Amino acid sequence: MIELAPSILSADFARLGEQVRAAGEGGGSVIHVDIMDATKLPLDCHLMIENPDQYIPEFAEAGANWISVHQEACRHLNRTLNLIKSHYCLAGVVINPATPVDALSEVLDIVDYVLVMSVNPGFGAQKFIPSTLHKMSRLAEIRSQRGLNYRIEVDGGVSLDTVAEVVRAGAEILVAGNAVFGKGDPKKNAQDLLRAATEAALQKV
Ligand code: DX5
Ligand code: ZN
Repeated sequence: MIELAPSILSADFARLGEQVRAAGEGGGSVIHVDIMDATKLPLDCHLMIENPDQYIPEFAEAGANWISVHQEACRHLNRTLNLIKSHYCLAGVVINPATPVDALSEVLDIVDYVLVMSVNPGFGAQKFIPSTLHKMSRLAEIRSQRGLNYRIEVDGGVSLDTVAEVVRAGAEILVAGNAVFGKGDPKKNAQDLLRAATEAALQKV
């Protein structure tokens, strides 16, 4: 159930192929891309941009498999999410730390995943914001109450120190940039994170 999504924003771009491979060998199963890149693993493209509609067809064409857009950046969120789906990509909606889960009530039945930002977007290696945890639990609760099946993703400050609490709160797709690519071996880093996540998931039940 748990998947680790190493975020290449924090990778050494001069050795990107090698680093992404190592993170995959360590158990990363989807690569989180804040702009664009290439691998055999599916590409999880987090569009932190205004007017994403303008770029969605090109991202899909370029090989994106999952595309997420910010609730805060979309004037017609329903239309944008349907545009993503019309390109046969999984559609995700993202909320910043200051945006409540309630802002998503009308789109939860059409999204494939919800990404809860646990830092303010912009760059890697920021400090995890604990007040975002309750939004993951709330999303899990709403999902079972309404019989929906979106997945819950978390992005920002996920590390060995925070992974257990995000998993216990309900996150299933864990974006990790600095914790995978920051220092040391991305393979071992990914393995260690996944191990800690799996242990936390087992404790949950
Ligand atoms: C933040 C990006 C993240 C970033 C996460 O704006 O959306 O995907 O790469 O990096 P870490 O895991 O280092 O917080
Ligand atoms: Zn991201």
